[in-house]
Amino acid sequence: MAEHYEHPYPSSELESQYPFVHYEHERFTEEEMRNRSHGFYEQMERRRSVRMFSSDPVPKSLIETAVKTASTAPSGAHKQPWTFVATQNPEIKHAIRVAAEKEEEINYLENRMNKEWQEALAPLGTDHHKEFLEIAPWIVVLFEQRYETNVDESTSKNYYVKESCGIAAGFFIAALHHMGLATLTHTPTPMNFLNEILDRPKNERPFVLFPVGYPLKGVKVPDLKRKDLDEVLFSS
Ligand SMILES: Cc1cc2nc3c(=O)[nH]c(=O)nc-3n(C[C@H](O)[C@H](O)[C@H](O)COP(=O)(O)O)c2cc1C
Repeated sequence: MAEHYEHPYPSSELESQYPFVHYEHERFTEEEMRNRSHGFYEQMERRRSVRMFSSDPVPKSLIETAVKTASTAPSGAHKQPWTFVATQNPEIKHAIRVAAEKEEEINYLENRMNKEWQEALAPLGTDHHKEFLEIAPWIVVLFEQRYETNVDESTSKNYYVKESCGIAAGFFIAALHHMGLATLTHTPTPMNFLNEILDRPKNERPFVLFPVGYPLKGVKVPDLKRKDLDEVLFSS
């Protein structure tokens, strides 16, 4: 394969205007790559969302490293349009549980979620009870920054906010799993109560709420099957 580029990146003109550095890349043998890819896949394949957490404490430094990892995610125009708010404060977790259960009661008991949605959720057995929000040692809420506010109070646009936050959320979940913690991707919709409880500005909108901790010993999870490769990959 030819490796001659007619339009090299960065061009000398670009590099005269903006800083660039060499990308440090470690190249492995194909055998090493196969081993690494299988090891990572097998580890990720063991990840599950849990809905019963232990109250065992989790050091703040682990949450910080998970957020640092999440923040390495690619983002539209490198805006990193996310804010993670982490709390282990019992009063705040209680307030979040009460507000989440109030919304989820309407979703589940007053049929704000339509029949098709409720049927899709039936095998998971989720309901409006969210005790785990108080029992898990941490709640981490990922807020998307719909736009940026500058020091002079003007605003600037963010790009591909949802895509960027979705990727950051994935990195966060993977980081927690890798370090031996568990979480649940939780969306007690509508989630705007989180702005008030966590005192966040109006440019931020809750994206996902993550209870974080160790799984309760003996916890059960739905016996889900993941799609086969040929259902999710078409390659040529
Ligand atoms: C965007 C999103 C929102 C979710 N919201 C909820 C939720 O509010 N409550 C819940 O119990 N699970 C929620 N889940 C978790 C899914 O039910 C779970 O990921 C799925 O059943 C697959 O299980 P696994 O994560 O163990 O592989 C959500 C997942 C995603 C990606």
